[in-house]
Amino acid sequence: MTEQPVISCKNVWKIFGSDPEKYLSNMPEGHSFDQIRADGYIAGVKDVSIDVSKGEMLVIMGLSGSGKSTLVRCFSRLHEITGGTIEVEGQDIMSLSEKELIELRRNKMGMVFQSFGLLPHRTVLENVAFPLEMRGQDVHTRRARALEVVKLVGLEGREEYFPRELSGGQQQRVGIARSLAIEPDIWFLDEPFSALDPLIRREMQDEFLRLQAMLNKTIVFITHDFDEALRLADRIAIMKDGAVEQCDTPDQIVLNPATEYVRKFTEEIDKARVVRARVLADPSAKPEGEAVDGNATVQSLARLLVNDKRKTIPVSEDGKSLGGLDRQAALDILLGSE
Ligand SMILES: Nc1ncnc2c1ncn2[C@@H]1O[C@H](COP(=O)(O)OP(=O)(O)O)[C@@H](O)[C@H]1O
Ligand SMILES: [Mg+2]
Repeated sequence: MTEQPVISCKNVWKIFGSDPEKYLSNMPEGHSFDQIRADGYIAGVKDVSIDVSKGEMLVIMGLSGSGKSTLVRCFSRLHEITGGTIEVEGQDIMSLSEKELIELRRNKMGMVFQSFGLLPHRTVLENVAFPLEMRGQDVHTRRARALEVVKLVGLEGREEYFPRELSGGQQQRVGIARSLAIEPDIWFLDEPFSALDPLIRREMQDEFLRLQAMLNKTIVFITHDFDEALRLADRIAIMKDGAVEQCDTPDQIVLNPATEYVRKFTEEIDKARVVRARVLADPSAKPEGEAVDGNATVQSLARLLVNDKRKTIPVSEDGKSLGGLDRQAALDILLGSE
């Protein structure tokens, strides 16, 4: 089952400076971010290779200035890359004409930004219908579609409000609805919840997961909040100085950080909240008895792990056995090992 990735980028560089192409082609192999900076250039994206699969939620995570937005702008060619290749659904986006590129963005890609970017003098409904208007849809069709997505994001009854009459969370719901109006296959969200209060933010994350369960889009979601990344991601790419330090499932990131930098990031994280039984299951173990669900986190199994005296506990998912998990190993994650 090797389905073609929706986005495939190979050795992508985005260098800012006076003559970045020339600089990159003459740059010695293995030049560091700081060496590049000393030469008067900024490596916004530094030799990144990453694939995004259909229906996957890839979260790009990193501190401010690590290159997250720059990388995602490259995916839609809002930035011309300095080196490497980017394919979207098998097509090299560097080979597209300006017109084809606009079509691609308009028909396939949805974008949501931290700053909402709503039109202040238009109502909720008009804001949501705006991309459809750009597409030349007639008033009835776009109104019907806008009503549908406004409902989808929970803003029914507020269709005629203006952005200023809405809370931050509600405004971002409008931003989300607007980006969904065109039914994009690929959805880019650049810190969409970063401007919101923590409680609202959590609510929006839940809502977002609910939407994704329904829509199953291919998503690239940017955040600088590790908790948010862990809650949402199928895989997390951790960036530093333009480079991807590690790209892996949340379980693997907390269990096996690839670099010292990633380890530092994961240090404070309660691993029991992240690690799921399926990851700990040894397929060669064949324990007997009642099984735990592979999708359960170690934390949710805490009581059972403490009380169940079996050395190896069976794990299954969708009626299929995944093997057995070592109770002591799970307890170590729960309580912290010695
Ligand atoms: N248009 C630009 N011109 C010059 N430098 C830029 C430009 N855009 C981004 N950068 C630099 O690239 C680096 C990565 O920025 P950015 O992708 O915005 O980071 P993040 O989204 O992770 O906060 C930063 O050092 C930033 O200053
Ligand atoms: Mg950014």
